[in-house]
Amino acid sequence: MKEIDSYPNLAFIFKRRSIRKFQTEPVPPELIEMMLKAAMAAPSAMNNQPWEFVVITEAGILEKIRQTLIFGRHKAPLAIAICGNKFKSKNKLSATEFWIQDCSAAVENLLLAATALGLSGVWLGVHPVKLFSHAIAKVLELPRHIAPLAVVYVGYPAEDKEPHTKYKEKNVHWQRYGQQNKLASDGE
Ligand SMILES: Cc1cc2nc3c(=O)[nH]c(=O)nc-3n(C[C@H](O)[C@H](O)[C@H](O)COP(=O)(O)O)c2cc1C
Repeated sequence: MKEIDSYPNLAFIFKRRSIRKFQTEPVPPELIEMMLKAAMAAPSAMNNQPWEFVVITEAGILEKIRQTLIFGRHKAPLAIAICGNKFKSKNKLSATEFWIQDCSAAVENLLLAATALGLSGVWLGVHPVKLFSHAIAKVLELPRHIAPLAVVYVGYPAEDKEPHTKYKEKNVHWQRYGQQNKLASDGE
């Protein structure tokens, strides 16, 4: 992909793909810690940092997650649940709404870090599907104020996917919605 050659610093962003087949090799603890550090480098509203992470390597719990998330039946040596802590919220808005964006930023950082470290992962949506939220809360024994946003599976990849962007010019508007000609918008 052209962007990778021209902008090597961005390569790990384009290389990040949803990988659903993993080797059985465990993820070294120091890499788990680095991914968590990257996740917690994410921006958050009012710097609230409402995230909590449950790191799962036990086969029995991984199996229960697989049974719970019907779109997450892939086999990975590591799962990380990214959760929002409602008690960490500075006001009602961050308790009810912003935690989702804050934790989503953490999820993406985690996935990008995994890629940069030679690992791969896939984001499994939990919130706002109540069935999934309740089931994951039960499996992970989450207290009521801890809301699971997503589970990320991580491992060494057992499938190859090409780097990509989903760039579409039609999704970009210049100066105002519906104006898609950049040059025209510059007055040229
Ligand atoms: C909020 C969210 C929920 C997702 N849930 C699932 C899921 O349950 N199972 C799964 O295999 N992939 C899931 N994905 C991954 C998407 O399917 C994937 O990102 C998309 O197909 C684009 O492919 P790419 O990640 O390789 O660019 C989810 C992604 C997001 C952002």
